[in-house]
Amino acid sequence: MNLCVVGLQWGDEGKGKVVDILAEQSDIVVRYSGGANAGHTVVVGENRFALHLLPSGSIRPDTICVIANGVVVDPEVLTKGIERLGEKDISLDGRLFISENAHVVLDYHKKEDQLREESLGKNKLGTTIRGIGPCYADKVGRSYTVRMADFRDLEALKAKLQTIVEYKNKIFAAVYDAEPMSADEIFEKCKTYAEKFLPFLTDTTEFLHRAIANGKSILFEGAQGTLLDLDHGTFPFVTSSNSSSLGMPAGCGVPAKLVDKFIGVVKAYTTRVGAGPFPTEQDNETGQYIRDKGNEYGTTTGRPRRCGWFDAVAVSYAVTISAIDSVAMMHLDTLAGLKELKICRAYKINGQEKTFFPANTDKLLQASAVYETVPGWDEEITEVNDFHDLPMNAQSYICRIEEEIGKPITVIGVGPKRSQTIFR
Ligand code: GDP
Ligand code: IMO
Ligand code: MG
Repeated sequence: MNLCVVGLQWGDEGKGKVVDILAEQSDIVVRYSGGANAGHTVVVGENRFALHLLPSGSIRPDTICVIANGVVVDPEVLTKGIERLGEKDISLDGRLFISENAHVVLDYHKKEDQLREESLGKNKLGTTIRGIGPCYADKVGRSYTVRMADFRDLEALKAKLQTIVEYKNKIFAAVYDAEPMSADEIFEKCKTYAEKFLPFLTDTTEFLHRAIANGKSILFEGAQGTLLDLDHGTFPFVTSSNSSSLGMPAGCGVPAKLVDKFIGVVKAYTTRVGAGPFPTEQDNETGQYIRDKGNEYGTTTGRPRRCGWFDAVAVSYAVTISAIDSVAMMHLDTLAGLKELKICRAYKINGQEKTFFPANTDKLLQASAVYETVPGWDEEITEVNDFHDLPMNAQSYICRIEEEIGKPITVIGVGPKRSQTIFR
């Protein structure tokens, strides 16, 4: 069975937890898009792991981990990630495979991300400043790029970096009046990365197709969420890759038809970090209640997340775009204690009700949410492990959302731990 797990909102839905659970029954876990902008949390016992580039299967000692061609790899973050696991006696030797075709995020990408965001002032996108946009832009531009395979020939890499950094420095000076960067310093770092990562490099496309031919089960781990997809999200307030499941085939060379099931992950409400439209946002006491109770602060940047009601219009769209078969709903526990809950079932745009999500930011900014109000529940549910033991109003909430989004909710999160999960 090959599975793909993908976020159906604006990221941070709880994909890390879901992937960690499903990885128990998978041979291989693959990250196929995004970079260190992702922060996937896995809680095992007293240990909390925040994974940025390593697949969430890496916590399990026998799981093979693949970082495929579609990922932009920040070697500094990857090094730290491997070290942090090492501190917990989790080794990746012999079970981590990195695509030689994956593009590398270097210091000038992060600098460019930061300078551009600063120069935009109040119009900034609110990126994670992890150099993601600049690195993918270089990939599309093709002329000034470093890929993982370039670590194999240090002499050629040195020359390449001279050319790239010279070009970048001209832009930094002319556009941002910023200090130049040193190609030599970046090269010195690359030398250490080469030493570390050469043993992990491979043709991951061949590796994955061989594994499929040998009957291995593969779990594809999405990063970000469908509404942050470069083409199908709330442009320009998106990330720079196809973070819906549409990015999976291109991001790892495995056709989508080889995936048996696409599993979408949502929160029982909605969150977003960074700028952009958010029709059900509650910039009020309710939003603060959710932020406090759900600990809604970014895994990567620590920023407070914007919080709001569940948006069935947005999620139904994401279900369609990402070809979702079933849904995992996390953070149901966070809603306990709210007297009433709201579910957005339509948008009102120019006086008309619309139920198909407009992937056009201008239209979306004009949308007001049309809500259905349902009763909440008081009981804490973090210890519940059977759907039928949930308060009746919590069960009804799940069933009502299933009707709206047209897909079964087969996994329910009632806390961050592996054990705090209900399977239906
Ligand atoms: P990801 O980017 O989709 O992997 O999600 P993040 O890890 O960025 O954010 C999800 C946060 O919610 C993490 O802190 C998780 O530990 C936590 N979490 C996941 N599922 C649940 C749940 O069902 N209930 C609660 N209270 N926390 C959860
Ligand atoms: P995971 O995988 C939530 C958001 C940023 C910003 C926009 C563009 O943990 O769900 P970028 O740095 O990608 O250029 O930023 O996208 N963003 C995320 N939000 N979760 C993520 O990843 C995100 N990755 C990027 O906040 O609004
Ligand atoms: Mg996250």
